[in-house]
Amino acid sequence: MTKIKLRSRDWFNNLDDPEMTALYIERYLNYGLTLEELRSDKPIIAIAQTGSDLSPCNRHHLELAGRTREAIRTAGGIVLEFPVHPIQETGKRPTAMLDRNLAYLGLVETLFGYPIDGVVLTIGCDKTTPALLMAAATVNIPAIALSVGPMLNGWHNGERAGSGSVIWDARQQLAAGEIDTEEFLERAASSAPSVGYCNTMGTATTMNSLAEVLGMQLPGAAAIPAPYRERGQMAYYTGLRIVDMVLEDLRPSEIMTRDAFENAIVINSALGGSTNAPIHLNAIARHLGIELTNDDWERLGHHIPLLVNMQPSGAYLGEDFFRAGGVPAVVSELLRAGLLPHPGAKGANGKTLAQNYDGQVASNGDVIRCAENPMLENAGFLNLKGNLFDSALMKTSVINEEFRQRYLSNPDDPEAFEGRAIVFDGPEQFRSIIDDPALDIDETCILVMRGAGPKGYPGGAEVVNMRPPSYLIKQGVHALPCIGDGRQSGTSGSASILNASPEACDGGGLALLKTGDVIRVDLRSKAVNVLVSDGELTLRRQQLEEAGGFPIPASQTPWQGIFRDMVRPFSEGMILDGATDYQDIERK
Ligand code: FES
Ligand code: MG
Repeated sequence: MTKIKLRSRDWFNNLDDPEMTALYIERYLNYGLTLEELRSDKPIIAIAQTGSDLSPCNRHHLELAGRTREAIRTAGGIVLEFPVHPIQETGKRPTAMLDRNLAYLGLVETLFGYPIDGVVLTIGCDKTTPALLMAAATVNIPAIALSVGPMLNGWHNGERAGSGSVIWDARQQLAAGEIDTEEFLERAASSAPSVGYCNTMGTATTMNSLAEVLGMQLPGAAAIPAPYRERGQMAYYTGLRIVDMVLEDLRPSEIMTRDAFENAIVINSALGGSTNAPIHLNAIARHLGIELTNDDWERLGHHIPLLVNMQPSGAYLGEDFFRAGGVPAVVSELLRAGLLPHPGAKGANGKTLAQNYDGQVASNGDVIRCAENPMLENAGFLNLKGNLFDSALMKTSVINEEFRQRYLSNPDDPEAFEGRAIVFDGPEQFRSIIDDPALDIDETCILVMRGAGPKGYPGGAEVVNMRPPSYLIKQGVHALPCIGDGRQSGTSGSASILNASPEACDGGGLALLKTGDVIRVDLRSKAVNVLVSDGELTLRRQQLEEAGGFPIPASQTPWQGIFRDMVRPFSEGMILDGATDYQDIERK
């Protein structure tokens, strides 16, 4: 059947070492696989299963895997399905982000250490997608991803209720006393009507879309809602394709090239993608030896228009996006407008981006806009720098009119504002004191969250999108400028300055900030600075060091401690120090 040497033969058919072959093979027979199958030249295809009761966003993969298994068999492969360490975005404490690298490590060991010729990566909930792509990048055996798909649209009182976004809105009303807890929970539930992942353009839809345009999913695979029949059919086509990818020896390093990442950055802007995307793509790229930076994100992505009208930047949800044409319609429109830098990048089906996507027309021009009539110009991220950090991202596409009027419309100083810093050391402190009138917060203040980066709050907390105090919300101030070394949910519509690197507890300037300091934000020069003299900052740094450095809470688990010792900043993808020494390991 195949000309290439399958790596699984080293386990199951090593004629030089019958003893080891016997040892390896006997236990795989004990549930009914036969010697003939395992010693044939059929590729062994693994399904890396991320669905479980602990991972409801990905749980539907338990069903979909049935179709994938049938396809793999049909195409002449043998299936071995195994569980991946669960990562549930909303259920894991302190944060699911902590476990992205743990799942990565576990999957690298599994793919490398077992008789696997190719793998189907079942992706979905936020961090499952990068974790699995990072592992595929490191091991570099043939791999294809399969998205579980978004939930159906949520509805509440006849209006679309999107995952996450509904909560960010309702929490303001709860804080203002306009709704009670019962109503709050009711709204949250209304946004989650079926199996699947978040139906907004949060981190899940972003990362699944980017997995497709990186070439790691079949064209059209990302946007199909989880319960739709097309989803099961895509599970089938994915299973068929991975067998051929093994026979063609088509590996992640030939698909996820620098060209593919540069295309993905452009497409992320057009989607209105999550601020978690740069962390994840910078990480995946680094595991392939590609130095992707936040400067690349600004250079390639900032001038790209927002085409997708989806919450939190817009109005619609996942079903609307799919019906309007999904990722293929967006890529096709960018191709037509000449905005994609590398139309020749190759996808999992062996065809180029242009071959896969050219000529797909959006069926609803309000959900997926054309480049001449976008939701917004310049929808990508700015990479801000200054004396508080070397890199922090701002998603300018979510700046709303209220925010723009209040902070960015001074004719003498356009695109810039200054504000008095109110500093919070971690989300617990924020929650306990934000409504305290003694803080004297008004609309000229900038809220600063620190101690929330990868080391400070292991994995980094999604907390930078801080709400104003309730007394300001009642006065009609719905958002204050926020800056922080943590992250924010991709479903949040806040125009925060976040992912600040290095973080406060890792030498970053945020550690030197005091409540009452004035911060200047200038989006034209892309600078954020605290207006304090260099001498004063040096003095504060000395004092901080004498006091033992920026305090962080104790680690609660062994992994938290290991992670903190090894983790790189968000700007470098939050990867583990030294992990990139191991590249293309299967062929070494
Ligand atoms: Fe899992 Fe949003 S919580 S996708
Ligand atoms: Mg999230």
